[in-house]
Amino acid sequence: MKIMQNIYIPQKAKVAKIEQHSADVKLFRLQKNRGKFAKTENGLVFNPGQVVLAGIWGYGEAPFGPASSPQNKSYLEIVVRNTGGNVTNSLHDLKEGAEITLRGPFGNGFPLQFLEKKDLVLVTGGCGIPPIASLIEHILNHRKKFGRVYLIYGAKTSNDLLLKDRINRWEKQIKVILTVDKPSPEWTGRVGMVSEFVKEIEIDPANAVAAMCGPGPMMTALEKIFRPLGISDRRIFANVERKMQCGVGKCQHCVTGDKYVCLDGPVFYFDQIDKNWD
Ligand SMILES: Cc1cc2nc3c(=O)[nH]c(=O)nc-3n(C[C@H](O)[C@H](O)[C@H](O)COP(=O)(O)OP(=O)(O)OC[C@H]3O[C@@H](n4cnc5c(N)ncnc54)[C@H](O)[C@@H]3O)c2cc1C
Ligand code: FES
Repeated sequence: MKIMQNIYIPQKAKVAKIEQHSADVKLFRLQKNRGKFAKTENGLVFNPGQVVLAGIWGYGEAPFGPASSPQNKSYLEIVVRNTGGNVTNSLHDLKEGAEITLRGPFGNGFPLQFLEKKDLVLVTGGCGIPPIASLIEHILNHRKKFGRVYLIYGAKTSNDLLLKDRINRWEKQIKVILTVDKPSPEWTGRVGMVSEFVKEIEIDPANAVAAMCGPGPMMTALEKIFRPLGISDRRIFANVERKMQCGVGKCQHCVTGDKYVCLDGPVFYFDQIDKNWD
């Protein structure tokens, strides 16, 4: 995404729409003040799994993985959990029509070409859904290029499942497995850890790839999915969240093990990062 020429200069973006997705999570649809977002040589505005730095004057910037289709030049959407910190709290206070800043996109993103012609197991939990959502939008825009596609998505309660309207649309073209930890009386779906539903997945292990994003403990639990499925570490791509500040390898905030999340990631092979979830 050529949001700007100079990586240090943010460009202005308008909050065109705000959706409340759970008690502490809102989706923000962002548009350029003038014109549309530019596509790069690969025909995409950003690679699913990359991050943009969204900022508010006087409050700072924070990284978010766009959740919308990477082919969409008209807008991009970020999904923001309010941590109570400066940036996310201020974003949650905004009204439609407000102006924010954007820098990026930064990082690598998922290896889209490698995923083609493969069976895909996409796993996420809680607020880890945005990069997986944009990957799914990309897959659906080219559905015939991919094999069987599974999304396994877990949350604490059904109220914490985000992007429900998108999920209803995705279910027509991919297999979606939703699960919650604590069911409310009206929840009729699955209950338990995402790893408990591995038996519902039918893939060709020799030709399957996994992509995931979620909190550290979930990542560790995922070994219980990928080992029985027979997906090797170099076919598991993990999108890692760490504190980030500069986005360009200068501030050291995002270092994990011997890697920089902003420069080397945020997408890593499972075995590059599996001892450094913390
Ligand atoms: C690659 C990447 C992608 C991300 N994508 C998203 C996304 O799509 N949606 C989203 O809501 N958030 C995402 N985050 C996390 C988001 O950037 C942080 O929540 C945000 O920076 C907090 O900023 P703040 O100023 O509001 O809070 P701060 O004042 O920086 O922190 C407030 C509290 O939140 C905690 N915190 C800050 N950053 C993180 C983090 N990365 N993980 C866990 N706890 C944290 C702090 O320890 C503190 O307790 C992503 C982070 C990274 C590195
Ligand atoms: S965010 Fe500054 S070094 Fe990575």
